[in-house]
Amino acid sequence: MQAVEQLDALREQVKQWRNDKLSIAFVPTMGNLHQGHLSLVRRAQELADKVIVSVFVNPLQFDDKNDLSAYPRTLDADLLKLESVNCDLVFTPTANVIYPNGMDKQTVITVPDMDDKLCGQARAGHFDGVATVVAKLFNMVQADVAVFGEKDYQQLLLIRKMVNDLNIPINIVAGETYREENGLAMSSRNQYLTAEQRDIAADLYQNLLDIKNKIEQGEDDFAFLEQETVKRLQESGFIPDYVDIRRADNLERAQKRDRSLRVLVAARLGNARLIDNIACNLA
Ligand code: PAF
Repeated sequence: MQAVEQLDALREQVKQWRNDKLSIAFVPTMGNLHQGHLSLVRRAQELADKVIVSVFVNPLQFDDKNDLSAYPRTLDADLLKLESVNCDLVFTPTANVIYPNGMDKQTVITVPDMDDKLCGQARAGHFDGVATVVAKLFNMVQADVAVFGEKDYQQLLLIRKMVNDLNIPINIVAGETYREENGLAMSSRNQYLTAEQRDIAADLYQNLLDIKNKIEQGEDDFAFLEQETVKRLQESGFIPDYVDIRRADNLERAQKRDRSLRVLVAARLGNARLIDNIACNLA
């Protein structure tokens, strides 16, 4: 496995693979890798001949400076994990490689209708930062396909819309959410939880399963279901940010006639802000 920090070296390797007619899949990450990330790498390996993973903690997407400085940076361990799953190349740029003229002078991409709802409301500028860095990484890596985890469902749809709106020639594939045994979605932020909080955190997924069952059995008072779940999460010790039943394709508020829904939740527990979501399909 190669690890490269500079853009020239990345482009040189990509050019060689292209000359050899090899296809390339890309998995962007912010490091601190866990089994969830590695499952995305395995998915990428099914889709192309070579897999590139980027590790870059993108300052542009952090609305909270403390969150950025506390974000776990574990590059040595990340490289070992990627090596163990036979990743082909890891791109580990510095902020200077990504933002050579500084972040203030950076052209920023805003994806309308996707950036200002749900997580976008609580985290001003977050999705502009995500869209901008992902567009830059796509142009740097020039892969055929990129894999994004479904845990960040809004991010996945935002990237799909950006790629579509800007005609970026890359295929976006969703990777299933990887869960702990108790159902908690794997996330770098889970390490902010105490052992006791980890047990409580499993309630997030249990509540999603519960709403899914109720909707699939015909309950269609979505506002009631949302409020009921907020209350239950509060009782378990969460500070819910939102529990929302939305259309799966564009995250608009779900109407009774909609068949393909997504239930999304964000809630604070101790020092962690946790998110999760589940698909809900009606016949
Ligand atoms: O999901 C993430 O880890 C990040 O938002 C991403 C896509 C790597 C962009 O920095």
